[in-house]
Amino acid sequence: MFWFLILSLFAVLLARAYRNTFDLNTRRVNVAVQPSERLGESASFEPLAVLHLSDLHMENISIDAERIVRDFSGQRIDLIAITGDLLDRHKNIPKAVAYVETVMKLKPRLGTFVVFGNHDYVLAPPKLGLLKAELERIGCRVLVNQHETVLHNGVPVHVIGVDDYSTGRSNLAASFQHVPAEGVRLVLTHDPNLVLEMRDYPYDYLLSGHFHGGQIHWPKPFHLVKMGRLPKLNMVKGLHRYEGRPFYISEGLGQTGINIRLRSRPEITLHTLVPAGSLSGHPTAETAAAARTKSPAAKPGVVAAKPGAVATEAARTLALE
Ligand SMILES: [Fe+2]
Repeated sequence: MFWFLILSLFAVLLARAYRNTFDLNTRRVNVAVQPSERLGESASFEPLAVLHLSDLHMENISIDAERIVRDFSGQRIDLIAITGDLLDRHKNIPKAVAYVETVMKLKPRLGTFVVFGNHDYVLAPPKLGLLKAELERIGCRVLVNQHETVLHNGVPVHVIGVDDYSTGRSNLAASFQHVPAEGVRLVLTHDPNLVLEMRDYPYDYLLSGHFHGGQIHWPKPFHLVKMGRLPKLNMVKGLHRYEGRPFYISEGLGQTGINIRLRSRPEITLHTLVPAGSLSGHPTAETAAAARTKSPAAKPGVVAAKPGAVATEAARTLALE
């Protein structure tokens, strides 16, 4: 009887955890781009809307691409950013490409940009080359330690794709080598631990994924201990700052290993980069979402252990409420 009860509870928990993989968390984040010499004194930066997808994991994904198109149709999207871990198995290349192509129906004005993650590098080099070629065929720009500049209402936006840090493929010097001095710098990378190495590489905003919000974040995401310094600083998801620069860690759309989530949800996020000053006095959408869901990242105390070194944007903006 005892074991029957335990097994029943476990089965209920598993069913719930599987159901969570369909419970898409759609977030909106506003981030101020600070005025700097890079923007020039007179440059007026129009809001830039970036739809961010990460960790699609075609082997374990419960979110339909058409649903994303439905959810965001009619909204202005300037750019789509995909920060790695599209798949593990080469047989899923057509599925991944079709998924991205469907999301591209949203017609981002400035294009769709992709960087690879550690799981993509499970593919043998010829298969990874095929994935890259297929993504480029449908119109994506796949960035491997390089940048591409797009013009956003006259202001240069440098999209800088830094290859995966967790597998030792990131090359910051190469990625930033030809980035012009003037313009907004948007960095795309898979593993957010990269920010710890970026003191000499200024940027305005960085998008990443990799941690899946813990995926099985119960009672604690113990497995993240092996995934670099950021989890030890309680930075596993959401909006944060490191050395004054804002960066974002997506919980990702798909799952790795077993197709379940506990205390984490699949995520898609629309980031709006706005000129500094336009957020003052108003809690951001990020703050509102974080407060509603009581996300750990929203608690100011969570990051208080490292005063001066790090601070979350959520903590900063919550103070305004
Ligand atoms: Fe992943």
